[in-house]
Amino acid sequence: MVRRTIKVENLKKELRNKILAARNQLTKDELKAKSDKIFEKLKSLDEFKRSKWILCFVDFRNEVMTHGFIEQCLKTGKKIAVPVIVDIGDRKKDMIASEIHDIGSDLEPGFSGIEEPKKDRISRVDPRGIDLVVVPGLAFDGLKNRLGYGAGYYDRYLARVRPDCSKIAVAFDLQIVDSVPVQEYDLPMDKIITESRIIE
Ligand SMILES: Nc1ncnc2c1ncn2[C@@H]1O[C@H](COP(=O)(O)OP(=O)(O)OP(=O)(O)O)[C@@H](O)[C@H]1O
Ligand SMILES: [Mg+2]
Repeated sequence: MVRRTIKVENLKKELRNKILAARNQLTKDELKAKSDKIFEKLKSLDEFKRSKWILCFVDFRNEVMTHGFIEQCLKTGKKIAVPVIVDIGDRKKDMIASEIHDIGSDLEPGFSGIEEPKKDRISRVDPRGIDLVVVPGLAFDGLKNRLGYGAGYYDRYLARVRPDCSKIAVAFDLQIVDSVPVQEYDLPMDKIITESRIIE
């Protein structure tokens, strides 16, 4: 039992490194063009149209770019929360959602250098109030399994949202693989959107 767990963790690590290297090859122009296509698709979905409260990650390094999407949502009256990593004691950390009003002035570099709301502007949103989570990740497969960055923050967060909350991942085509190694706590997505297709 223990041996099997170690093996899956190694497979996850290998796949993370492989996809990170591939994603690093994308130029800024490619990232922007592909991200625009991805969000055009997302905005056409009913899950987006009917959502009032959206939790959306703030892109870091070569992730699907979310700044433009977040800005448009705020302009059109959607409520937006972004992830914040907080200490919960016992040297443990957890992810919460914090509302933002202005992506240009509400954020500062936080956990791991990722932009987060300024410490004095954190305004926690109840996970049960979120209608749509835009989920980042490193690799996904046709069964909508997800491989993240290895901290389990999204697996733990997504276990707390309402059952009817939509979990939609955004990723580039190069992040879609035949099969993602999963463990019992890994939660699948409802949809995965890439620049060329929607996996549902
Ligand atoms: N629901 C959960 N409850 C408790 N611990 C969990 C849960 N989900 C994941 N974990 C812990 O988180 C660790 C990392 O999980 P995993 O390798 O799946 O990360 P990940 O999904 O790639 O990361 P992330 O979601 O942060 O991008 C695991 O060792 C596991 O023990
Ligand atoms: Mg996981």
